Amino acid sequence: MLWPLPQVLAHRCGGALAPENTLAGLEVAVKHGCRGVEFDVMLSADGFPLLIHDETLERTTSGHGEVSRHTLAQLRKLDAGSWFDAPFAAERLPTLDEALARCAALGLAVNLEIKPAAGFEHQTGRVVADHLLRGRANGVPGLVISSFEDASLAAAMEILPGAIYGLLVEDLPEDWASRAAGLGVHAIHVCADALDAAQARTVRDSGYHLAVYTENDAERAKALLRMGVETVITDFPDRVRASDMFPA
Ligand code: G3P
Ligand code: MG
Repeated sequence: MLWPLPQVLAHRCGGALAPENTLAGLEVAVKHGCRGVEFDVMLSADGFPLLIHDETLERTTSGHGEVSRHTLAQLRKLDAGSWFDAPFAAERLPTLDEALARCAALGLAVNLEIKPAAGFEHQTGRVVADHLLRGRANGVPGLVISSFEDASLAAAMEILPGAIYGLLVEDLPEDWASRAAGLGVHAIHVCADALDAAQARTVRDSGYHLAVYTENDAERAKALLRMGVETVITDFPDRVRASDMFPA
């Protein structure tokens, strides 16, 4: 199966150059030559998927408390940009559909990370897959769905078996191969710091695609690509420049 992601993805939409998981971040990624982004998807209390990383609102919005206890209408009122910088005060938490439509318009491939609040692993996987099944990613040039949560991946795969899935891990665990085979995923997404050349070779030789997060040093990113990594997720697409990597 062909790997649909470019060599460099901006982490959480625009990396550290824009408020994370916002539409403004997508524009920033494009401005720096990125052809793809990673973002995190969680559910509102009324079951709508939207982009946010933390289970609580304080760090990246003007709100308070748990994301999963707020309706979409309540979440959409929050300022998701001022925490980063005042000119971003108009940023709102994007819905998944909105973010996918913007990625399609901008020609950005997507690594959609299912990031469920605790207890919502299955439901979040199901809802995300259902939105994709209804064509919400139409026009997006490449899509990989990933998660740290086996239950989210399994739920999404049940509804959308034809998509490409990645198992997210920190250090490559001893049992990675049996977990990956049990789930039926196609890729392993591993912490860049925790990966050595032998592990990269083992993963690739076992027939899995390989992505790493979050690498902010251009030379190390190139070394990872030389080791067989196919996609590097970075907070600094201005430093880890897509145009400086290897010919695709
Ligand atoms: O998908 C890679 C990376 O985003 C996983 O870590 O915590 O930044 O979502 P996190
Ligand atoms: Mg993420």
